[in-house]
Amino acid sequence: MPATDQQVTGPVMGPAEALSELFTPAGKHHPYPLYDALWELGPVIPLGPSGTLVLGYDEICTALRDPRFLVTDAAVHRSTGMIDHSSWQCFTKIMMFSNSPDHERMRRFSGWAYSPRQVAERRDLAVKAAERWTDRLAALDDGGPLDLVEAFATRVPMTVTGELLGIPEADRMGLRTAVTATTTAFEPVFDPRELAPADAGMDVLVDYLGGLVRERRRRPGDDLVSAMVRDRDADGAVTEEELVAGLVMFVIAGVQSPSDMIGNTVRLALEHPAEGRGMTTDDDLLAAFVTETLRIDPPNHVLTRAADTDIDFYGHRVAAGSRALLVLAAANRDRRRFTDPATFDLARKDNRPLSFGLGPHYCLGAAFARMQVEVAVPVLLRRFPRLALAAPPAYRDQLVTRGFARMDVTLGS
Ligand code: HEM
Repeated sequence: MPATDQQVTGPVMGPAEALSELFTPAGKHHPYPLYDALWELGPVIPLGPSGTLVLGYDEICTALRDPRFLVTDAAVHRSTGMIDHSSWQCFTKIMMFSNSPDHERMRRFSGWAYSPRQVAERRDLAVKAAERWTDRLAALDDGGPLDLVEAFATRVPMTVTGELLGIPEADRMGLRTAVTATTTAFEPVFDPRELAPADAGMDVLVDYLGGLVRERRRRPGDDLVSAMVRDRDADGAVTEEELVAGLVMFVIAGVQSPSDMIGNTVRLALEHPAEGRGMTTDDDLLAAFVTETLRIDPPNHVLTRAADTDIDFYGHRVAAGSRALLVLAAANRDRRRFTDPATFDLARKDNRPLSFGLGPHYCLGAAFARMQVEVAVPVLLRRFPRLALAAPPAYRDQLVTRGFARMDVTLGS
């Protein structure tokens, strides 16, 4: 069991207590014992009129494939007033938060940018980025601790995404900070003022990427922004706002979860050194390592759906308009689906975690994300075979988009 899983938040915790604990700072940092406690209530847990918590693997697969469970789109966010916030104004213009037919229209428009050929062509960029940032780590090393999140895990995906979109080097880390801020909008919001950091981050991204779109329209290059501007202007398949929002999405999704995933993979490699060494020389082991990391510690713990109509769901009534919280990270540890689920085990057969979702909204960037992690982590581990944690990694105060705020390591070089 990974070390961080063992830090239970209280002595003995019942399911009701676990639920209220889950979205507290302590719960977000160490949710796995809380998921275990919640499992005692079963795979589907009614939360009263407002919602349903779903933990089971099969149950989440069913919900993600059922068109009556909608993503929380503009109509939903209008009804809660969230759409008045710049974060949700932009998020509701992307495919992840759009339902049919807008969803299909947007997915068709930008699908090519995620194709296997595009991903294969980006591999060299990822190798160069990983080598560049390991070189810099070596140059910074004075024997003391270095924050691997700041110096490597965020840098590699930001560099790859920056190169693809033609974002100048000097602008990249400013955007990186804005990216993390926007992801706080996905957490449950109890007071609209909590959206202030996400709104501020979104303003930065929309302003910057909107400017980039206008600039590339005037002076096209061979980057992804120029290609998307050309496509949009040719057939008007998406609006200008949707184009900018799609690019904002590309930067947020392209950077945050891969960066969190690199952190999680490195941590597990340090906790399982034999397997960690193995993945640097064996591609099958590397693929198994990344899949098992996605299962046991995914970067996105919860997806939300809104019931379009009353739904009879595994014997429970999900009321029209209520929310279903689908806890992917709990489903990845469903005992009915995975033997000994809290054990990190590279020999698992048919290991199919739900970490990239399923159904019509299945992650378009899954192959792109995996490729970056599969390149970056072995480059790091080969270069610094004595890499070690200098302190337990610290999590951001987030559960939906979960990852390390910092990860102090010594390089041992
Ligand atoms: C380890 C990294 C990643 C994880 C764990 C992840 C996870 C997810 C999940 C769970 C969904 C489904 C959302 C839902 O059903 O509501 C999703 C959708 C999506 N992801 Fe990712 N993602 C990752 C990386 C990326 C990257 C690198 C990109 C692109 C640059 C990307 C682009 C997208 C897009 C466009 C969607 C929306 C698809 C749709 O609505 O049809 N993701 N992702």
